[in-house]
Amino acid sequence: MKSLGILLSGRGSNFVAIADSIDAGRIPDARIAVVVSNRADAPGIAAARQRGLTAVVIPSKSRPRAEHEREVVAALRENKVDLICLAGYMRLLSPWFVQQFPRRILNIHPSLLPAFPGLEAQEQAFAYGVKVSGCTVHFVDEELDHGAIILQKSVAVLDGDDEHSLAARILEQEHIAYTEAINIVMGGGFEIAGRRLRKKI
Ligand code: GAR
Repeated sequence: MKSLGILLSGRGSNFVAIADSIDAGRIPDARIAVVVSNRADAPGIAAARQRGLTAVVIPSKSRPRAEHEREVVAALRENKVDLICLAGYMRLLSPWFVQQFPRRILNIHPSLLPAFPGLEAQEQAFAYGVKVSGCTVHFVDEELDHGAIILQKSVAVLDGDDEHSLAARILEQEHIAYTEAINIVMGGGFEIAGRRLRKKI
């Protein structure tokens, strides 16, 4: 049985999708050991409590980053997590944090990386005028929205779209993508050559 740690800052729909997948057996042999939020008012943390999961708020505001991160890492260790999923965690992890869990931290980003890293990726993509966008699940490394890609899903930008309708269709794909990516990583049947993740033959 693998233990997941979820880090979030807001709405938490990706977390809920992962939790639903575990409950439905779409992610076998896994449990969510702890959900950590850096914001007390994150709806995601309320959702975690409602599901009876261990939910911890570790506020980041007006605190030195190193001190905040030490507490988060301690909470993850205490709950013996095998894999960490960033699910709308709006903080850049320091190199120190990343090195505590090598190749064990995943992130989801609402664009086809390397296009549109950073904040409001869906709005950036829409404003740029791309005809295809999507989402990316990747390993977290020391750089923002940068580590080796586990999987991507594309979403067509339609003539009738605005930023919101596009973001909503991308989010639907995010919810599917995260479950698939967790299964790929937990299944272990892959190798990473350079930045390229591929099935082991
Ligand atoms: C998601 O769209 C996620 O891809 C994005 O934040 C949203 C969180 O939604 N993450 C990033 O932009 C990270 N760079 P959620 O709280 O409902 O899962």
